[in-house]
Amino acid sequence: MADDPQIGAPAGRRARLRATAALVVFAVAIVSLALVSPDQRYLWLKALHVIAVISWMAGLLYMPRLFIYHGDAPKGSVQAKTFSVMEQRLLKVIMNPAMMLSWMLGLYLAYSVYGFSGGWLHLKIVAVMALTAVHVFFSRTVDAFAREEYRGTARFWRLMNEVPTLLMIVIVILVVVKPF
Ligand code: HEM
Repeated sequence: MADDPQIGAPAGRRARLRATAALVVFAVAIVSLALVSPDQRYLWLKALHVIAVISWMAGLLYMPRLFIYHGDAPKGSVQAKTFSVMEQRLLKVIMNPAMMLSWMLGLYLAYSVYGFSGGWLHLKIVAVMALTAVHVFFSRTVDAFAREEYRGTARFWRLMNEVPTLLMIVIVILVVVKPF
């Protein structure tokens, strides 16, 4: 497995390096916002928030698919180890940083632009908390699969795939339409 070009240690280092580079670019972009007007700053922060949210959602939607394939791989097999590495990289390199940035930028926008007021905003935060609970559940499942404790049937993970989708639909309608 260490010889595998995709799951060996060098590939892991490259993945971590790319993720660190992306975080540095993000940090530089956020710091340079001190130089632009408040109106432009709001738009740039919102754009960065949406980029972070898309990256987080991509992971939340892909992870249950990996659990389905992993559940079919015999315990201790090369395939099972490959899925475990893929799950851990997806979680640590993409999903964890993307979730933290979505929260930080979202809370800053909520505070600076809306002073945390508005029924749509309160409900959105509740829905994002539910999305975060799904994230934590997936994260614990990644650890369980890594210990070769298989969790859930293929049908269960197909259903779980729908939970972040439904929450995302509710969140986007709340923030764009602002119905109340
Ligand atoms: C607790 C975490 C979050 C908070 C506090 C938050 C808050 C906000 C705020 C205040 C805005 C600006 C709205 C405006 O000025 O019109 C915004 C924009 C946006 N948020 Fe979030 N957000 C969070 C997480 C998320 C998540 C998880 C998603 C998607 C699944 C999301 C999707 C969006 C989108 C698409 C916009 C752009 C809306 C537009 O321009 O009309 N947010 N968010």
